[in-house]
Amino acid sequence: MPPLTIRAANEEDLPAILAIERAAFSDPWTEAAFRKTLGQRPVIATVALDGRAVVGYSVAWIVGDEAELATLAVTESRRRAGIGGRLLDALLDEVDARGGATVYLEVRDSNTAAQALYRSRGFVAAGRRAGYYRRPTEDAIVMRRPGPERGSPGRAEVAGDD
Ligand SMILES: CC(C)(COP(=O)(O)OP(=O)(O)OC[C@H]1O[C@@H](n2cnc3c(N)ncnc32)[C@H](O)[C@@H]1OP(=O)(O)O)[C@@H](O)C(=O)NCCC(=O)NCCS
Repeated sequence: MPPLTIRAANEEDLPAILAIERAAFSDPWTEAAFRKTLGQRPVIATVALDGRAVVGYSVAWIVGDEAELATLAVTESRRRAGIGGRLLDALLDEVDARGGATVYLEVRDSNTAAQALYRSRGFVAAGRRAGYYRRPTEDAIVMRRPGPERGSPGRAEVAGDD
């Protein structure tokens, strides 16, 4: 099996990204929304490739010391094989390389799979937005991964390392 590759998304990936998006979400982004977003400068759009096949993607942006993970999905037949984790790790590495912004995201209250993935990468619940999602209407859980200087408590503190 060819190894997984993570690279920046480009326009040619759009049909595959849209196919995954439409299968993964009940209220998917439109093609126009993806085109508009991918053309914006602070956007970090990434795909996971198995050989030449797009099997997952993520879209995020960094503005100042805040980053927002806008969307992340893996094709259904390839879930639970570490691909979502690889995409998220690649994004967090990029964020850290650019100075370590605090990363925010919204996730459906019922989406326990995604919440577990985010928690495994250091995200914590930071709030709730009532009725944020449509089709069906549902609350969003806001999750946050603290940046290096805004973390609480720091690693050395936890370990009692002084
Ligand atoms: C959420 C999603 C991207 C995860 O992708 P994935 O490739 O399956 O995730 P990974 O295999 O990298 O999982 C990493 C960790 O996340 C957690 N996790 C992922 N899926 C899980 C599930 N179904 N149930 C419980 N925990 C899960 C586990 O901790 C897992 O580690 P483990 O397999 O060693 O236990 C994928 O389920 C998906 O595309 N869902 C539909 C779209 C979506 O909901 N996107 C998020 C929008 S906010």
